[in-house]
Amino acid sequence: MSELTIGVVGAGTMGQGIAQVAITSGFQVVLCDVAEASLERGQAAIDKRLAKLVDKEKLDDPGRQAALARLTSTTQLDGLAGCQVIIEAAPEDPELKERLFRDLDALAPHAILASNTSSLSLTRLAAVCERPERVVGMHFFNPVPVLELVEVIRAEQTSDATVEAVQDLAERLGKTAVLIADAPGFAVNRLLVPMINEAAFLLQEGVASADDIDASMKLGAAHPMGPLQLADLIGLDVCLAIMEVLQQGFGDPKYRPCPLLRRMVAAGYLGRKSGRGFHVYD
Ligand code: CAA
Repeated sequence: MSELTIGVVGAGTMGQGIAQVAITSGFQVVLCDVAEASLERGQAAIDKRLAKLVDKEKLDDPGRQAALARLTSTTQLDGLAGCQVIIEAAPEDPELKERLFRDLDALAPHAILASNTSSLSLTRLAAVCERPERVVGMHFFNPVPVLELVEVIRAEQTSDATVEAVQDLAERLGKTAVLIADAPGFAVNRLLVPMINEAAFLLQEGVASADDIDASMKLGAAHPMGPLQLADLIGLDVCLAIMEVLQQGFGDPKYRPCPLLRRMVAAGYLGRKSGRGFHVYD
């Protein structure tokens, strides 16, 4: 399947990571973003990370050059027409994603259309397509080159052939796939984000400082980073959106977003990407 060309829509953190993993796994990749500047930033970030892998002797220089030669980019969605698999990693805006899927459905009628959405319903995305059986979720985790999991999310309409093809693709990307039904928050975010939300409540109530909340889970539960550090990595806006999806999807008050989380998002304190979240970054 290495002869596959994979389209990646969105050159943000997740799109960059997916593109990097795909080119280093031997696939041709077309990276698409509406903004030329985002493509340049994405390409530069991939260049830098591949150079780091060479420094660490995890990749040789010819391997780096060959991987980079497999990457092309475009600002036009129809530049993805020749792809056999298209992985959408655009911002988490339902209207934007539905529009993208409608367009992709028309321009690549035989491709598998996968979304990296962290919380939206795949069944709803599939419903805007003429051929919904080839729509599926491929949910990667940040940082994509490091974390091994891909949640393969099956929409109501997804065919067995599509599920099998993306499970196989995930494996060829060096990942482990788990098969998840199209339920709000899927599996990982339904577990992870309420924990982050509860950490925000601890902070809001003055139970412990941000540093001590993070130290508690790093040292007391062997998490690689504390929940507030993790919120800063994911983006506080993304965490809030996931809590809202859980709250609306289940109608259960246990998923109410923490008011402090809401205030921080309203203030523009979104985490690492804005230089400030629960912690401050240079
Ligand atoms: N891109 C690529 N590689 C990266 C990276 C990045 N952004 N950040 C770190 N790495 C690599 C480092 O280069 C290093 O590689 P080597 O072992 O080859 O040297 C390795 O990861 C470890 O990095 P560090 O030594 O710098 O730091 P660390 O050991 O503290 O690990 C971490 C950093 C990998 C981010 C780790 O803290 C971690 O796994 N944290 C949890 C992250 C997590 O839970 N992510 C899921 C978020 S939820 C999500 O993404 C889904 C959603 O829908 C919201």
